[in-house]
Amino acid sequence: MSDVTVIVLAAGGGTRMRSKTMKMLHRVSGRSMLGHVLAAVDVCEPSRVVAVVGHQREQVETHLAEIRPEALLAVQETQEGTGHAVRVALEAMAAADHRPTGPVLVALGDTPLLRGRSLTTFLDRHRASGQAVSILSGLLDDPSGYGRVVRAEDGTVEAIVEEKEATPEQRAVREINSGILAFDPDFLLDVVPRIGNDNVKGEYYLTDAIALARAAGHQVGAHPVEDPDETQGVNDRAQLAAAGRVMNARILDEWMRRGVTVMDPATTWVEDDVVLEADATLLPGVQLLGATHVAEDAVVGPDCTLEDCEVGAGARVVRTHAQLAVVGPRAQVGPFAYLRPGSTIAEGGKVGTFVETKNSTIGAGAKVPHLSYVGDADIGEGTNLGAGTIVANYDGVAKHRTVVGAHARTGSNNTFVAPVTIGDGAGTGAGTTVRDDVPPGALAVSAGPQRTIEGWVERRRPGTAQARAAQEATRDAGADDTD
Ligand code: UD1
Ligand code: CA
Repeated sequence: MSDVTVIVLAAGGGTRMRSKTMKMLHRVSGRSMLGHVLAAVDVCEPSRVVAVVGHQREQVETHLAEIRPEALLAVQETQEGTGHAVRVALEAMAAADHRPTGPVLVALGDTPLLRGRSLTTFLDRHRASGQAVSILSGLLDDPSGYGRVVRAEDGTVEAIVEEKEATPEQRAVREINSGILAFDPDFLLDVVPRIGNDNVKGEYYLTDAIALARAAGHQVGAHPVEDPDETQGVNDRAQLAAAGRVMNARILDEWMRRGVTVMDPATTWVEDDVVLEADATLLPGVQLLGATHVAEDAVVGPDCTLEDCEVGAGARVVRTHAQLAVVGPRAQVGPFAYLRPGSTIAEGGKVGTFVETKNSTIGAGAKVPHLSYVGDADIGEGTNLGAGTIVANYDGVAKHRTVVGAHARTGSNNTFVAPVTIGDGAGTGAGTTVRDDVPPGALAVSAGPQRTIEGWVERRRPGTAQARAAQEATRDAGADDTD
């Protein structure tokens, strides 16, 4: 653990998002923006993290209790600016008897692209420089919306000027304040009460601390981050999408470096917690969400959404939507399959086209190739279910289980009315409705014998195309007979 204290500001209204959801809780690559900032901050091993909450604070507090229960909460009842937010944080620290002994890093909850290693480099520079306050800055082609880092003729930093307060000349400055500031602890305690709110927004701007430091003869400095993407703040949905693209590209780059083939990064979305093995292949239009894991030599795509799924080595998943499902090694899924929670396909198994599964296991090498629903069922190894099999698992009140043994062969268009068991090596005829257990090795057929009524169409549908076709066929058959 280091001597660094971190204050994360997460109390602002975020009105530009126009959302019921607190801005910082919006997700980028599967993780809240606040979660990304806290993960970056963790790299500095802070001795204490103070989170300033206020607007929609119940939501933020619930989220923090999940992801950072140890964070110290400071409540900012009214949002009067970033300077005011830090004042509230200092009060909470005093009340909790936390006196910072080392640098205090102030971070914003709406800069999800910030990297941990940029923060540690920044803190190292801050310490080495002996500055009372240091700015993590960024050089942007389009600096609009950000506070500008204003430097004197000799290049030293004089102030941060918020866009709303800036002169046209200052607005032309491309060096911006990322919002990340590092403070000498004594200077911070001294300067925060002295920040005023005499400005366009009538807010206490933390950024005024720079000019106040200069006026008191302290050293200040700005350290540009290498990758300007990191400073992107998210204030609206367009910026949220832009941050999502950057984060996704970073995640994909990292997996490609580790040996994963991504055919089309522009249409492939992989969330933060996903794990991929070398020689996995992702085809266009794939979304991997949550805690999904894809093993080596598996090919996923095109056009799949897998959430919290496990895909085994060498498996093939095509045009599939799956959630909480396990696809075993060398298993095949799709095209057009829907694997619902609790679906497990063992090694070499197959769930084919227009097949839906739920809370079911498909045994090793077992196949459900076409147009079927398998719910609350266990299908034994090597078994083949015919096209159009429906497991009727729900009697309108309760769900029941169906068990099909190993190496069974069931016919097309079957209905298994649960609870029912079909034994090992059993079979069923086409169109069977299985209501009673079928013992091992037995054949069950439930459709009655076929009744054929000769000439029915000509008698009952005379003059129709159907009848004409029948007439022609019988005439041809008659002609054939005379040959
Ligand atoms: C802020 C900076 C600006 C910088 C930009 C970087 C100030 C005055 N301006 O502007 O120099 O370029 O970030 O993205 O600091 N917050 C509170 N309580 C408040 C007000 C804000 O907790 O009373 C929090 C917000 O939730 C947010 C952060 O502080 O996480 C920044 O506030 P925001 O209003 O987004 O500031 P910007 O206008 O983006
Ligand atoms: Ca902002």
